[in-house]
Parts: sequence; C-alpha cells; structure tokens
Amino acid sequence: MKHYERLLLENKSWAKVKVQEDPQFFERLVNIQRPDFLWIGCSDSRVPPDQITQTQPGEIFIHRNVANLVVHTDLNMLSVLQYAVEVLEVKHVIVCGHYGCGGVKAAMSRHSFGIINKWLRNIKDVYRLNAQEIDVLPTEEERVNRLIELNIKHQVLNLAETSIIQASWKKFNRPYLHGWVYDLHDGLLKPISEMPPNTPLPYPIYQFDNL
Ligand code: CO
Repeated sequence: MKHYERLLLENKSWAKVKVQEDPQFFERLVNIQRPDFLWIGCSDSRVPPDQITQTQPGEIFIHRNVANLVVHTDLNMLSVLQYAVEVLEVKHVIVCGHYGCGGVKAAMSRHSFGIINKWLRNIKDVYRLNAQEIDVLPTEEERVNRLIELNIKHQVLNLAETSIIQASWKKFNRPYLHGWVYDLHDGLLKPISEMPPNTPLPYPIYQFDNL
C-alpha cells in the first residue's frame, strides 16, 4: 500500500466508527459551527491541538504557522482572527507554542534558510528584546526554551494590539487571550501568559472610539 493510501483508508474507518458511536455526529456538525476557542499554534506535526486537548470537531477553530506567530501584516492570520472573533464569537484565543520548536531554534542560529528567514525575522526581534535574560542561561536548550516562552508571550501581546481584539474587547468584553507552551516530553500544556479582556497595554496604542 502506498503511504498516502493509508490516510484514505483510515479516514473511512474513522467515519464509520464515529457514526457507530453517535449516529447524529456528522448531521449536527454540518449545519452549525460554534467553537468557543481559536487556537494559534505551531505547524509542527507533533502538536495536534484537538488530540492534546481531547476536543472534538467543531470545538476549536485552528490557525497554524511556523512558530505560532501573530504578525500584523499576515492576512491569513488576520482573516482567521477576524472571522473567529466577529462571526464565531469565540470566548478564548490561545497562542500555543512548544518546547524544542524548530522555528525558534532556527531563528537563534546564523544559518540562512531561504524565504523562511523573513518569517523567522520576527522571532529574532523577540530575541533581541530579551537577549540579556536569554544569554545568561547556561545551556543551548535552556536558551531556546526561554525564547520559546518569551515568543509566546510576545505573540499574545501582538494579538492584544490588533484592532480586531481591541474593538472586540471594547464592545463585547471578549475574548480572553492565553499563551500556553506544550512539552513534547510529557504531553502537558503549561499556561505561561494571559490577558483578560481590556488588559491595558504597556505602550500607547490606537484608540477605537468610533466603534
Ligand atoms: Co514549532
């Protein structure tokens, strides 16, 4: 059997088991999508959001990219965020990174990786802002893992800065923002930062008075 054929076969048996367990499973999901959570995570194949949280289809709206970044010029992320916040009315947005993240490791090195350099540039900025704290750590692994945590915190702040979140905080007092890190060694999620609705930001941002 070819590699990809396994996926198609597994899909057939998954769909069959789902209907056996719950005959209305697909019918319910066809007509309505009302997740409470938006997940912004790393594309890493070892961090599947629904599996590690034991959530079902329909429960988490998901966006993934290399190193779980929130970049203000990323139309893909902004479109997902706007749809999740304004249409789906999610209550929580979770930025989830993971220890041992290859994207963060790459950003800490001097190697050139081609087009992804421009994406990793954003992480290099987080490193620069926190270099004093990171550089004193004794091992490479600790330095990478600290930058991974600081990167998550930074992306939560980036989220809070978006006009989408600012407007929704002001009008609806939601969503709650969370930064989590996943440990590949034990499969556990650890909360490392959070911003409840209307958390003041540490610098002047645009006002949204005319909403
Ligand atoms: Co990663």
